[in-house]
Amino acid sequence: MEKIKNIRKIELSVKLLIISIVLLFSVFAATSYINIKYRKSSISTQTSQKINKKSETIIKNINGAYNVSGTIIVNKKYGLDENYTYKNNQKLFNEATKAFNNMKKDAEKDGMSLNIISRYRSYDVQNWIYEKYKQQYSNIDTFSAKPGYSEHQTGLAFDLSEKPKTSVRDAFEFTEEYKWLRKNAYKYGFILRYPKGKSNITGYKFEPWHYRYVGENISYSLKDGDITLEEYLNIY
Ligand code: DAL
Ligand code: ZN
Repeated sequence: MEKIKNIRKIELSVKLLIISIVLLFSVFAATSYINIKYRKSSISTQTSQKINKKSETIIKNINGAYNVSGTIIVNKKYGLDENYTYKNNQKLFNEATKAFNNMKKDAEKDGMSLNIISRYRSYDVQNWIYEKYKQQYSNIDTFSAKPGYSEHQTGLAFDLSEKPKTSVRDAFEFTEEYKWLRKNAYKYGFILRYPKGKSNITGYKFEPWHYRYVGENISYSLKDGDITLEEYLNIY
């Protein structure tokens, strides 16, 4: 009888040992799997996202352009792919065209004439412009973007004048059209991109002619004109 009891005890111990080994192995396998999976996903995230340390804003490169919550951002820090064209975001480009045409029509009703001096510029065109200015001006980086760093490469930036076929002019600031734009552009999704007194943030001197289509959500938020896109997106 005592012998049988001992055999049962041994059997039970062996069973417990086997169960423990199986359990231990399962836990180990599960942990390794989770580790591998997590490492893989964090590697692929690093390739497409940047975290702005100051603000914890996520800046993603989508289709060759950096975006913050769906808004394309191009400045001295965030450039575009060399082969980026307006066609990479054709839908947005068309939306901007429509918004500009509506704005122009309404401006005309108020006796204003809005003319596009420059809108889309390819990487190569911007390169040509930049190289040309570089030969003449030492302060070029205060008013011209390097190739790959111009908003014009997105086709969402519009250089405007009250006169057709002219070049952009500082004196645009003193026109009725400029006043009208300051009062009304936000209603159509546009913002003055390089305002006065903000060159420490935008990197460029005041450009009264350069308007950027950002969509009405943002343009309405910025309508009082005192903050820049960089400040609004918290990426300066
Ligand atoms: N003038 C603006 C900064 C540009 O070159 O895109
Ligand atoms: Zn411009």
